[in-house]
Amino acid sequence: MTTLGTPLSPQATKVMLLGSGELGKEVLIALQRLGVETIAVDRYDNAPGQQVAHHARTITMSDPAQLKALIEKEKPYLVVPEIEAIATATLQELEAAGVVRVVPTARAARLTMDREGIRRLAAETLGLPTSPYRFCDSLEELQAAIDGSNGAAIGYPCIVKPVMSSSGKGQSKIDGPADVQKAWDYAMAGGRVSHGRVIVEGFIDFDYEITQLTVRARAADGSVQTHFCDPIGHVQVSGDYVESWQPHPMQAVALERSRQIAKAVTDNLGLGLDGQPDGLGLFGVELFVKGDQVWFSEVSPRPHDTGLVTLATQVQSEFELHARAILGLPVNTALKTPGASAVIYGGVEARGIVFDGVADALRVPNTDLRLFGKPESFTKRRMGVALAFDADVEVARKNAKLAASKVKPRAV
Ligand SMILES: Nc1ncnc2c1ncn2[C@@H]1O[C@H](COP(=O)(O)OP(=O)(O)OP(=O)(O)O)[C@@H](O)[C@H]1O
Ligand SMILES: [Mg+2]
Repeated sequence: MTTLGTPLSPQATKVMLLGSGELGKEVLIALQRLGVETIAVDRYDNAPGQQVAHHARTITMSDPAQLKALIEKEKPYLVVPEIEAIATATLQELEAAGVVRVVPTARAARLTMDREGIRRLAAETLGLPTSPYRFCDSLEELQAAIDGSNGAAIGYPCIVKPVMSSSGKGQSKIDGPADVQKAWDYAMAGGRVSHGRVIVEGFIDFDYEITQLTVRARAADGSVQTHFCDPIGHVQVSGDYVESWQPHPMQAVALERSRQIAKAVTDNLGLGLDGQPDGLGLFGVELFVKGDQVWFSEVSPRPHDTGLVTLATQVQSEFELHARAILGLPVNTALKTPGASAVIYGGVEARGIVFDGVADALRVPNTDLRLFGKPESFTKRRMGVALAFDADVEVARKNAKLAASKVKPRAV
């Protein structure tokens, strides 16, 4: 579609975000700028994206009946999942019935909502290199997978993750037999739904990891083309991103392999119900790199948290790229300047916190801030991000971290 309407009129182009956190908020702002009528959905009131949308709706998005009722009532042109914990079977049903289009496709939302769907697709269907892995439903199965008593041994060290979890929740590394029980118990406590399945992965001793942002957008002739952003380097602590930068320097062979893997995965996730390759939007493909070797880790069919850095570095941020691509508009993935991002955690458990030191943070050269406006702070909740740009990516990293450290969240 290349015709856009006027919001709040019968001609409006309506887009519904399922999940309205800090990433959804930036997508919503990009859509607002194009005159799209936006509906921000979340599980709690006053979520970041709800504060900048035309309409705010609060429902349990994992509840099929609530999700179906809302989509049928609002009748958006597009539904854009921003989180994984959604009743994706309902989205598939509504897409099949022609009620709505899901970004990039309902199938992609379903396959990526749990680690099993996407891992089996990448490794078994597409034959892409991944860490060795097994799925286990009990402590006994986990121990057997590590020992190899019922197949190839995963061995030590390895990583255990609930199949349904994100941001490192319930995830831990096992260095030896003494850690197995603890890792199992931790995974059971940290999964998103009470179903006891985990993936155990062999530990990859990578040199570095990157996010390869990949965009499927419509070309002038109507075909879908794949565009790549410059690689984003990042540091994860306990499975959660704390710092990212762009570009991450890469050897030509590793970069080429990364893009081949990203293309293979996104080509497949871009296939709709009828097998037509019409799924559009931006993906965050997570890859591990050691020398010339590249492993696929996982993929988000939506903007990626480490891609917040693109607010400072690209001509069009990952959020603008997503907004444009899903509307069938052309995209520009060019880098504007090297830069970096650093996460600001809540540090306190309280509602309605205040932020001291904002001016000090912004006095650090070439920096910017996003404070997400989350109504409630938790110690390890991401409440904001500092951004920095510089011709030297290492200077940008230093300045982003410095600016982030000057922002002091405080309970009142
Ligand atoms: N098999 C592995 N070998 C080595 N490191 C790993 C492995 N799996 C995960 N990690 C590390 O843990 C991080 C988080 O893992 P993963 O991306 O699978 O979890 P996640 O909970 O989905 O995280 P997020 O939602 O933040 O992307 C990875 O970015 C990587 O640093
Ligand atoms: Mg990840």
